[in-house]
Amino acid sequence: MSLVPHHIAIVMDGNGRWASRRYLPRIAGHKQGVDSLKRCVKACAARHVQVLTVFAFSSENWNRPAEEVSGLMDLLALAITREVPQLKADGVRVYFVGERSGLSDKVKASLAHAESATASNSRLILNVCFNYGGRWDIVQAAAKLAAQGADITEDSLGRAMAMAHVPDPDLLIRTGDEQRISNFLLWQTAYSELYFSDKLWPEFDEAALDQAIAAYVQRERRFGKTSGQLPGVAVKTHQAA
Ligand code: IPE
Ligand code: IPE
Ligand code: MG
Repeated sequence: MSLVPHHIAIVMDGNGRWASRRYLPRIAGHKQGVDSLKRCVKACAARHVQVLTVFAFSSENWNRPAEEVSGLMDLLALAITREVPQLKADGVRVYFVGERSGLSDKVKASLAHAESATASNSRLILNVCFNYGGRWDIVQAAAKLAAQGADITEDSLGRAMAMAHVPDPDLLIRTGDEQRISNFLLWQTAYSELYFSDKLWPEFDEAALDQAIAAYVQRERRFGKTSGQLPGVAVKTHQAA
């Protein structure tokens, strides 16, 4: 197995708690979270990870206080516009994955600009899941096929999903000391290795990323097979107790 996962997906959780512990408003935690994401993008590129997918705003996050939701929208538009030149210089290709119709024209324009400005890059693909939900993705894919009158198979549904431009994640990391999926990549994480970090997202640094990758390297990915069927694994014979 390659020593580095091809595709890492991250539920970036814990910004609010990071801020609360410092008696700061929650939005200060989200700002710090953007810095942590910038560090993580650089670290993944340096480690030859090919795809990084991050959960930035879930379908359910609309249920937060209006002030926090509008703060997150403003932060997204600002961060994207500000970071495009650096992403371009670093060879990062950005995709925004999620339902766009609920977003303001300003946010939609900044997403489209960042995608087109980085379209020729190929060092690292960065998928930012924004206004995204795993259930939304499955439903929109099924609705697309139904509208075309196409057969629904694992293949056709997979190709209709919003993440069809990348292979499934090898490693799913969740920070913030929570152990749940929260409607992230429900379809695509069928065989991802799961890793939970107790670090809050703003504190998730290169060393924490390396720990997650080291844990991944120790895993045996069997995809339903037995250990003995895997390449490079010696067949273990049954030892009587
Ligand atoms: C994750 O951090 C970022 C978003 C959901 C936008 P949270 O804001 O959920 O932080 P906690 O879980 O309240 O600490
Ligand atoms: C998941 O975090 C969504 C993002 C990180 C964008 P939440 O903080 O919203 O998840 P729950 O509500 O604790 O499950
Ligand atoms: Mg949270």
